[in-house]
Amino acid sequence: MSLYADRVHLIATENAFKIGPYIKEVEDAGNKVVRCNLGEPDFPLPKHIRDEVKRQLDADNVHYNDPQGVLPLREAVARDVSEKRGIKVTPDRVVVFPGAKPPIGLCQQTYCNPGDEIIYPSPGFPIYESFITYLSAKPMPLHLREEAGFSFTGKELERLITPRTKLIFLNFPSNPTGGVASREQIEEIAGVIRSKAQPDVRVYSDEVYENILFDGSVHRSIISVPGMEAITVLVSGVSKSYSWTGGRVGWAVFPTAEEAAIYKNLNINYFSCIPAYNQMGAKLALESPESGPEIRRMVTAFQERRDVVVKRLNSIPGVTCQTPKGAFYVFPNVGKVCEALGAVEMHAKLPEPARTLSSPATLFQLFLLFRYHVATLDRKSFGRIGSEGKHFLRVSIATAMDDLKAGMERFAEAASDRNGFAAFVKEGKRLY
Ligand SMILES: Cc1ncc(COP(=O)(O)O)c(C=O)c1O
Repeated sequence: MSLYADRVHLIATENAFKIGPYIKEVEDAGNKVVRCNLGEPDFPLPKHIRDEVKRQLDADNVHYNDPQGVLPLREAVARDVSEKRGIKVTPDRVVVFPGAKPPIGLCQQTYCNPGDEIIYPSPGFPIYESFITYLSAKPMPLHLREEAGFSFTGKELERLITPRTKLIFLNFPSNPTGGVASREQIEEIAGVIRSKAQPDVRVYSDEVYENILFDGSVHRSIISVPGMEAITVLVSGVSKSYSWTGGRVGWAVFPTAEEAAIYKNLNINYFSCIPAYNQMGAKLALESPESGPEIRRMVTAFQERRDVVVKRLNSIPGVTCQTPKGAFYVFPNVGKVCEALGAVEMHAKLPEPARTLSSPATLFQLFLLFRYHVATLDRKSFGRIGSEGKHFLRVSIATAMDDLKAGMERFAEAASDRNGFAAFVKEGKRLY
């Protein structure tokens, strides 16, 4: 009998965390790494929120609390979502989770039996695909094409919907591409789902980057399209908007109070509850007039960095990089760099398991990290299924401007260092 259950081998991971030990190894050898790997704003938690959390701690608000989330936060979420999305949400439809990540797997567990189909964007947040395989549901990746601006049409979505489709993940603004949906696109997607999917389908609208928008772009949520509120689970949280990834507060708005109650019970089983002092900090974050200017300051900095990084990347021979409209990532195509460095052929000749566990872009990503000390993530980190032959890196711009500038210079050097690359692959130490 084996120690582990079969399903243990079916779950994947989030490489943004997984490469931490590699970065440490490079740093322990005395190098400064430019960290463009993590999806975490590099700003301090705004003071008004920090003060509120301290006040809550001083008031001893540190005990078990409502597993659905404390009522004042659920009321604040219901008000915020109602105002911004033009719908009417009541607090009994809101459930608070330790971050926006847990509802991904919990929704799959709640709505899907093995074999049921789940549609999700690829490239996309890796946890969507990771849980699908873990639960033995059927992954149906919706491939975002670069030539279409990493977007997709109603027709492309329609082709994937079958009578077994139970969940459809949407993520605007998108990680890793920075795509933002227009009103027309959202309406087209909604129309396709309403006409083709079963009435009990659920749309999981991951809106954690709802406030990180550039060039005056506006966030459009599918929940605002008439008829969609009844089948949409809207998810957001504090990690990105308030630079508070360690707060572990996220929330979901469910179509009904009855559905929310199922998640409350899952919270009881998994977490009991989420720290009340942070939930009260999140309530203040949503309600305080001081939050808007803080978000704007952060977004302005991201936009300035985006402009510098996209311009520099596009000036590197072999690199093409689109301009994201939201979130804080850029997603350059490094296909020609991989060819010029010989990465495509070298990858094809790798022994197993290195070949399966990496890709040409993975080799370039690790070369960049170990030889040029810039941490990025490869395309494969954002959905493995169907990622073959696609050569991209995700560069997080949640890093100080000077570091980013230095990082992009190193990127340019690495992209033309054919001999260094060949030696790195030949050494064979860190290829996946
Ligand atoms: C698209 C997307 N959804 C969810 C999350 C999870 O966020 P949280 O820190 O709130 O769990 C992330 C974090 O990177 C993300 O990029």
